[in-house]
Amino acid sequence: MSRGRIVVTAELPGTVLDSLAEVGELWVPAEPAPLAAAELLAAVPGARAIVSTLNDRIGDEVADAAGSGLAIVANVAVGHDNLDVEALRSRGVAVTNAPGVLTEATADLAFGLLLSVTRRLGEGERLLRARRPWSFDLGFMLGTGLTGKRLGVVGLGRIGQAMARRALAFGMEVVYSGRRRAPLAVERELRATHLPFRQVLRTADVVTLHCPLTAQTHHLIDAAALADMKRSAFLINTTRGPVVDEAALADALTEGRLAGAGLDVFEHEPAVEPRLLGLDNVALSPHLGSATVETRTAMARLAADNVRAVLDGRPPLTPVS
Ligand code: DGY
Repeated sequence: MSRGRIVVTAELPGTVLDSLAEVGELWVPAEPAPLAAAELLAAVPGARAIVSTLNDRIGDEVADAAGSGLAIVANVAVGHDNLDVEALRSRGVAVTNAPGVLTEATADLAFGLLLSVTRRLGEGERLLRARRPWSFDLGFMLGTGLTGKRLGVVGLGRIGQAMARRALAFGMEVVYSGRRRAPLAVERELRATHLPFRQVLRTADVVTLHCPLTAQTHHLIDAAALADMKRSAFLINTTRGPVVDEAALADALTEGRLAGAGLDVFEHEPAVEPRLLGLDNVALSPHLGSATVETRTAMARLAADNVRAVLDGRPPLTPVS
């Protein structure tokens, strides 16, 4: 029996759409491109559920347009800074995200960017593709080794821990900062030392960001934070662009005050600060952290399971915490 209209704002795997179609009438966009705000507003009247992505900004306006039947917004992402969680909850709308299922994929990508920037992989590939002359030489394109170096994890949640696990395998030492200390068992497994944020910045050879974007973490890495980092250090960001002041980062990299950066997310996505595009010591990817077939399928499946649970009158599986 149909439990009402389900608005799905992005393309999802067919099997996941089938599972949603078992419980409601689906609305899906005609084009795979992100919905404009006006298109979203036009799609939601009468919706009982919205399956959203980080491209959709959903708060009072969308909830008003949807009407009082809206029961759940299920974000196909672990981050939920695109949602006004308080506004939705205060109307009795369940808000869910997709934690857990993208941990390993995101950490893989973050470590890939780390290797790419420290070992100059993108730069080397660009050189070859440009058909520039080269020859093996003992001093040619030397990078920075990781063994014995210190990884500073900002936010030792699931993804931060997975990143630290990879770093351990590469012989790195792990320190971390965060609002809360990690459980002792986690600190022991990762041989991770908790330090104040500034000390992580001052002492790490690589700083990797895994905190969510909130009012408190917006521009957490600003000009002052960058000035605290070693000149030889690298910054990796796979969380949300606005955690870093991108203009300040470009200044630091251009002026040689930081060795390099690996960035999967950008302050004004999909735009990228033009100066970063011209720097060889920056490894870039277009928000691919969770972009594997397996992971994206699992994320979509979890969102659909949350919708089914709520429309069946059961508690959501992964409410935003
Ligand atoms: C997330 O889940 O928050 C990622 O940024 C997109 O998968």
